[in-house]
Amino acid sequence: MNILVIGSGGREHTFAWKLRQSKKCKNLYVAPGNAGTENTATNVAIPIDDFEGIKNLIFDKDISLVIVGPEAPLVNGIRAYLLQDPRLKDLRVVGPGTEGAKLEGSKDYAKNFMVKHGIPTAHSQTFGKDQLEEAKNYLKSVSYPIVLKADGLAAGKGVIICQDVEEATLTIDKMLAHSMFGQASERVVIEQFLKGIELSVFVLTDGHSYKILPEAKDYKPIGENNTGPNTGGMGSISPVNFAQGEFLRKVEERVIIPTINGLKSDHIDYKGFVFIGLMNVEGDPYVIEYNVRMGDPETEVVLPRIKSDLVDLMLATAEGSLSEISLEIDPKTASTVVMVAGGYPDDYEKGMPISGLDNTDDNTIVFHAGTKTAHGQIVTNGGRVLAVTGIGTSMLEALEKSYERVSKIHWNNVYFRKDIGHDLNALS
Ligand code: AMP
Ligand code: GLY
Repeated sequence: MNILVIGSGGREHTFAWKLRQSKKCKNLYVAPGNAGTENTATNVAIPIDDFEGIKNLIFDKDISLVIVGPEAPLVNGIRAYLLQDPRLKDLRVVGPGTEGAKLEGSKDYAKNFMVKHGIPTAHSQTFGKDQLEEAKNYLKSVSYPIVLKADGLAAGKGVIICQDVEEATLTIDKMLAHSMFGQASERVVIEQFLKGIELSVFVLTDGHSYKILPEAKDYKPIGENNTGPNTGGMGSISPVNFAQGEFLRKVEERVIIPTINGLKSDHIDYKGFVFIGLMNVEGDPYVIEYNVRMGDPETEVVLPRIKSDLVDLMLATAEGSLSEISLEIDPKTASTVVMVAGGYPDDYEKGMPISGLDNTDDNTIVFHAGTKTAHGQIVTNGGRVLAVTGIGTSMLEALEKSYERVSKIHWNNVYFRKDIGHDLNALS
């Protein structure tokens, strides 16, 4: 069958790489893709918000399965847009509809969902633009640190942790009164700070049954020892050593089952990935956030550990037959190290030629994120440029492979964190 992946990051390259391994995948398209997906699939220069262009592509290329990578098209209703066309009634789409996508599109909606369905999460209260004074008064009554979250999508930047009431008062003012995150911060969720270790859990659901995919740990801050501003993610590891056995059982019982049941009882027809950002607080899981897609760079360590055919899994998700599928996971460890353009997450240069991409080996996979081909050469085209995944029988072996491969790749002003996995190593 012909398949379309929507997006252009490392996540989408990983999807293309894994889908390509299936005999059922005939023609594979990525819109708009990057220099990595160009080698695995056919790139089509259609932006992710051009729903009409995407629909025309589906007709033109006789596409039967669409996998939506990023959150924005889901929150903006791409599923309904495609499926309401009677000519596309047989199209299979992986990714929730508008209602389900609100779990990521509105933090207030997600909070209400969790409270309603008894899912453990930090205590919170939401304030709108016209409630600035109430919000400031509330900030006088809470304990610190406190977490301020823009309600809407803010490209991963809408969460600010404030250490004291002065900082929180200034920040709430910027968010609510001065549109710090545009429309996204017209409402702000003020949330209790949770102290613990974070991890990401991924669930695939067809609305009835679910499969738990390998969990992963993401390294968000730009600097070593988790210092400096947050990024999209500087590296990841799967499995996560502190999240096995009893803890994962609690996650399934207290978080995953109530989430799937909650979607059902709220009549939300959800077919896609649920990415649950969790905090492990002294052995108990609390939900920090829901995302309605896979994580990036978590996908770069999760999909390489899935042995099952990804086309089968995606079709079963879209068709509602996930309970008939078995999911086989590789017990090995996968690590990924993200190589970024110097300056990211602030200003950075684009268009730098990348060298060392030709050294291939069997133990590593170089997933492209912000890259493109210009005049026959692969150049940087974004902040996060490459995610270099290594696989090994232990975390140390996986990391050794990632870093060895990273050392052979170069461009002007390249930066990467050298401490991915160090915190987990200290825990084991
Ligand atoms: P989010 O955009 O919701 O993923 O939040 C960004 C980061 O803020 C998370 O990865 C956490 O490190 C941190 N964070 C969010 N909510 C909380 C919380 N309630 N307590 C502590 N840290 C949090
Ligand atoms: N790596 C975090 C995310 O994809 O949101």
